[in-house]
Amino acid sequence: MPDVSLEAARRRTFAIISHPDAGKTTLTEKLLLFGGAIQLAGSVKSRKTTRSATSDWMALEKERGISVTSSVMQFPYAGRIVNLLDTPGHADFGEDTYRVLTAVDSALMVIDVAKGVEERTIKLMEVCRLRDTPIMTFINKLDREGRSPIDLLDEVESVLGIRCAPVTWPIGMGQRLKGVVHLLSGEVHLYEPGRNFTRQDSTIFASIDDPQLEARIGAAMLAELREELELVQGASHPFDQAAYLAGRQTPVFFGSAVNNFGVQLLLDFFVEHAPAPRPRATTTREVQPAEDKLTGFVFKIQANMDPQHRDRVAFMRICSGEFRAGMKAFHVRSGKEVKLANALTFLASDREIVETAYPGDVIGIHNHGTISIGDSFSEGEPLQFTGIPNFAPELFRRARLRDPLKLKQLHKGLAQLSEEGATQFFRPLMSNDLILGAVGTLQFDVVAYRLKDEYGVDASFEPVQVATARWIRCDDARTLEEFRDKHALHLGIDAAGELVYLAPSRVNLQLAQERAPGVTFLATREHA
Ligand code: G4P
Repeated sequence: MPDVSLEAARRRTFAIISHPDAGKTTLTEKLLLFGGAIQLAGSVKSRKTTRSATSDWMALEKERGISVTSSVMQFPYAGRIVNLLDTPGHADFGEDTYRVLTAVDSALMVIDVAKGVEERTIKLMEVCRLRDTPIMTFINKLDREGRSPIDLLDEVESVLGIRCAPVTWPIGMGQRLKGVVHLLSGEVHLYEPGRNFTRQDSTIFASIDDPQLEARIGAAMLAELREELELVQGASHPFDQAAYLAGRQTPVFFGSAVNNFGVQLLLDFFVEHAPAPRPRATTTREVQPAEDKLTGFVFKIQANMDPQHRDRVAFMRICSGEFRAGMKAFHVRSGKEVKLANALTFLASDREIVETAYPGDVIGIHNHGTISIGDSFSEGEPLQFTGIPNFAPELFRRARLRDPLKLKQLHKGLAQLSEEGATQFFRPLMSNDLILGAVGTLQFDVVAYRLKDEYGVDASFEPVQVATARWIRCDDARTLEEFRDKHALHLGIDAAGELVYLAPSRVNLQLAQERAPGVTFLATREHA
């Protein structure tokens, strides 16, 4: 039997964070190529556009040219098992992305050399910061004219507040791009469009002192490079493993994903230095990956991936122990044993039945709505993993039904779709309204489309006087009762039965908070 601690130690589970268009899809595809997971560059991209959609509602995603769902891709590389958790790229799907980031051990940040640090990168970085997630950086599109590398590092340091440790350094850029220098090994890798797929297929010099380098890039450029390297080595931070693991320093790589240049240097460094699964906190104790009993938590639910089966798949990140096909696991929230019969892995992005899986891996569990985001699994111990937040939505709409006889289906549809986590569903205490909250407007279109497609309900969403929501906590029963009486008009219940204050305006929220000092208003709710 494989040793759990050895299997855990060779896992690298990560996500790519970037602003749309920086090159995440392209880089993903190249990484899979190195992992031998795909034969042809282009297949990740073509999935978006040409391959038949997995289910009908994904037609919407295709129409919009965005990725609504995130998937998991596993590939072996250099003796390691790499799990790449895809994050939805569109700005509207924030919450889903945030939760994916709770399931990874590190992240890779992609920055466009011409655009530098962009708005979405800043937001994602804030999320990584909550857990001190270690981050590597890839500055992409070096084959195009961009900003000066030193400028970019300055920007990362000042805007994102993380120190940069360049590991590779570019020789030229755009038309003048000649290659990169590996600052730790000293090697020079030349840029030769159409080549560079493997080391064997690249021209590599042992150092910048190799006489052939001057012949290839010219004396002037070499002199410029020497000067720049001196400056960089004087001014930047040397790579420091501990600072990287603590999320205080980011190793930086330069390259061009579309030309597959600089990518293998990144991947080699990544599998060597990125963290294996680390201990995880629960409400009762810290779980070590090498423990022999299986534990894990659900960070994502996706319904109806296959319209033939109308199944729901819960994505569980394994935190300890070994998963074996057919084993029974304890579903902590319901207190029931669940047989994990045909769990899925996502090897090369195609779903396959998995026999075994280890800490860091993600498995997909079929279910009919019994499993929710944030649920924990174990082999009997009643532990609950913490840190999987439910964010207060920022946009609210009232569901309007065209056919009143379909109210029951509407209820069911809204409740089930909100279980996936992208939207939240509220019922005010004092009215029969059904209110949907989301982080982005596009979600309402997605829900309307899916209600029709999957539940046969024709509904639309109209504006409602709700500006923001807060989960209410109060230990004192009397204070809570008084609060309920006084504010019944603005209170509702969420899908999990929790009390929520639906504020008609920010000012109203502030006043309500000031007038109820004994009551706590939470902007996030931990899945419990
Ligand atoms: P995303 O997932 O982060 O949104 O970015 P994606 O990989 O889709 O890349 C966005 C665009 O940038 C694509 O061009 C892609 O080809 C291009 N790109 C990615 N890496 C590089 C690079 O290293 N150099 C250059 N010059 N371009 C790069 P597109 O025109 O939107 O799509 P396509 O028609 O080229 O596929």
